[in-house]
Amino acid sequence: MLDLLLQSTSVSLLGTLGVLLLVYFISSTSFSSKGEGKEPPGPRPLPVLGNLLQLDLKRPFITLLKLSKKYGSVFTVYFGTKKVVVLAGYKTVKEALINHANEFGERHPFAISYEEKQDYGVLWSNGDSWRDMRRFALTNLRDFGMGKKACEDKIVEECGYLVEVFKGFNGEPFDTTQSVNYSVSNIICSIVYGSRFEYSDPKFTSMVDKTNRKVELFGSASMQVYNLFPWLGMCISDRREIKKIYTWITEVNLAIFRHLKETLNPQMCRGLVDAFLVQKQNFEDSGITNSHFHDDSLMMTVQNLFVAGTETTSSTIRWGLLLMAKYPKIQDQVQEEISRVIGSRQVQVEDRKNLHFTDAVIHETQRLANIVPMAVPHRTSQDVTFQGFFIKKGTVVYPLLTSVLYDESEWEKPHSFHPVHFLDKDGKFVKRDAFMPFSAGRRMCLGEGLARMELFIFFTTLLQRFRFTPPPGVSEDELDLTPRVGFTLNPSSHKLCAVPLM
Ligand code: HEM
Repeated sequence: MLDLLLQSTSVSLLGTLGVLLLVYFISSTSFSSKGEGKEPPGPRPLPVLGNLLQLDLKRPFITLLKLSKKYGSVFTVYFGTKKVVVLAGYKTVKEALINHANEFGERHPFAISYEEKQDYGVLWSNGDSWRDMRRFALTNLRDFGMGKKACEDKIVEECGYLVEVFKGFNGEPFDTTQSVNYSVSNIICSIVYGSRFEYSDPKFTSMVDKTNRKVELFGSASMQVYNLFPWLGMCISDRREIKKIYTWITEVNLAIFRHLKETLNPQMCRGLVDAFLVQKQNFEDSGITNSHFHDDSLMMTVQNLFVAGTETTSSTIRWGLLLMAKYPKIQDQVQEEISRVIGSRQVQVEDRKNLHFTDAVIHETQRLANIVPMAVPHRTSQDVTFQGFFIKKGTVVYPLLTSVLYDESEWEKPHSFHPVHFLDKDGKFVKRDAFMPFSAGRRMCLGEGLARMELFIFFTTLLQRFRFTPPPGVSEDELDLTPRVGFTLNPSSHKLCAVPLM
């Protein structure tokens, strides 16, 4: 019930909650850490609530962007009693994550993460376990995926299935969410499990749908409150739903792992899970009992790759299609280029260097869509003095990627869809330093190579095959670019028509 209140609620309800919390915490709360130096400035916090009343919990990145205008590029806000240092603007985020990679390189897990053994895996973990799993995941993404011709073939094949699904709608309006999700998810499945699934397989489709629901719930206002005040846990139904989804996904994975184990051939690994099982066996055979290759690590690493590798990429593809329907003249230019350079043959990664405008449109989509607006929370691994401010070891840090992707001193038209950001005066593609949707430094996205390949092949193939338009009776202006609230920023619910071109 508390959820309902929180979701439909406003600042005044939070205020009421605040009074209750005040009574609960009044004796134990202290906001000021005894300073070893000047701390980053920020709005004055209230006891217990901190700056919660000033924050839009549904879209905290918007409030943080506004606060950065007032308090500068390094500032402090209190999410309840939790002190958070926010880094804003390209120069500051880059300096912190690259020049001080170690100091800013730890992860701060949410309260809910601890309930899911998230100390293991890649996304939420720290220390040796994180280092070993990140290295293992990167090696295997390379062996079974990123940057390889075999992976390109998998993406092309999967995109072919998606084209068939789109064709099946015969130009009638439809919601692109599920089909794009299934298609993108199958790429990760091929890399991780060694095989893809049919879109009609209910186990597979439930796994994808539930994973997406979980990402949505992770960003809900009530989960933000739960992460700050975990003792409220029993009352929050979003948390119960997350736990139920986690248990269900874990069981499905256990069944898949069992099957892979029974059919394992160590000489011919089919995917990352096989490689993990072989590595684990090797450690056991050599009498090493304290390695990080154990069942919990496997479970969390696989779930992390599935969650991080599906939602993000498919959401970006869907933003791209929506933007094409909204800006038909830009769609014309993309289709003219594809038709001139590629014609009707299958698109390949190699073609990217000749498709300057299309590449610029994909980059601009990623910039404007800003799908991971605050990165994933970081934490300082040691005391650090940064830009003259003292930040204590263990402080939560949000690298505000929105402020980099929309940095007014880096982009000519930060809030518009303007592919020219990525073109020189001759119409050739140019890289931009402040293009940082995958973040930077030690914790930067480990799927960047795969994601970039997927985005290029999916986007270009779909634009080669279909003309995207709003449904009949809806104007381009009416297509809404306001993102749906969640841990990542997805397009709001909408339908598009995909009219076959060939
Ligand atoms: C358009 C697609 C994608 C975007 C925009 C994206 C963006 C990000 C961002 C911003 C982070 C957090 C970095 C930080 O905290 O500093 C991240 C982390 C991560 N991403 Fe991605 N990602 C994408 C696709 C993928 C794919 C396809 C995979 C898997 C194959 C993946 C796996 C991960 C993992 C495992 C992490 C955690 C890394 C760590 O904590 O060490 N991502 N991603």
